[in-house]
Amino acid sequence: MSENGYIIEGRDLVKAYGTGRAQVRVLRGLNLAVARGEFVSVMGPSGCGKSTLLHVLGLITPADSGVVALDGEPAPDGEGGRAALRRERIGFVFQRFNLLNVLSAIDNVAISLRLRGQKLDGNVRHLFEWMGVAHVMRRRPAEMSIGEQQRVAVVRALAHRPAIVLADEPTGNLDSENAEALLALLVNLNRQFAQTIVMITHSPAAAAHADRVVTMRDGRILHATS
Ligand SMILES: Nc1ncnc2c1ncn2[C@@H]1O[C@H](COP(=O)(O)OP(=O)(O)OP(=O)(O)O)[C@@H](O)[C@H]1O
Ligand SMILES: [Mg+2]
Repeated sequence: MSENGYIIEGRDLVKAYGTGRAQVRVLRGLNLAVARGEFVSVMGPSGCGKSTLLHVLGLITPADSGVVALDGEPAPDGEGGRAALRRERIGFVFQRFNLLNVLSAIDNVAISLRLRGQKLDGNVRHLFEWMGVAHVMRRRPAEMSIGEQQRVAVVRALAHRPAIVLADEPTGNLDSENAEALLALLVNLNRQFAQTIVMITHSPAAAAHADRVVTMRDGRILHATS
């Protein structure tokens, strides 16, 4: 357990792409702390660095400076240690579902588990049912609707029981009905399993499902001054 109760925290994160005049300073001393079991939405204009933030928090992209702490422990610098933490503690859901087209839904989940040294179990079947996609388990992505593909992508993100789910515009490619269905499932997940969720979205309606909405601007999270 963390000393300060935060399951994931970015402290003074700085990240730039490119050098010299072409340099883009994306994160400029950003601070964000997420409590265990919290559902936080991050909003902000296109290009402000939301995806970069998610990749930094998820230990995919190293920050230039600053600290990402999981359960109060700063993540290691080395890729080996970072990859192990990422695989064990974090589940990603992206705007594009990134399912492998040649594999069935269940095999997409199985391969993700295998990368983590785990096997399919009853929990996975339960997740498929719970996400309302048990009927597409044996189908390939091309044989599923877009909404079904995204719900399978969520099953895959959750199958290894990560403590933290990082979702980058998970409803960005969904129509409003499918978006609402997915959001309702995320809220349930958050409530029933105390799963911590950080969700980027452009949609105020989507963000409203979260416990807390934060806004990103000029490379930082705007914090309430009260
Ligand atoms: N690998 C990269 N190399 C160079 N520049 C990059 C790279 N990735 C992102 N950027 C730039 O960094 C800035 C932030 O990008 P990012 O994808 O984090 O924004 P975003 O807030 O997620 O935008 P959107 O809402 O459109 O998804 C943009 O100006 C983008 O062009
Ligand atoms: Mg983005």
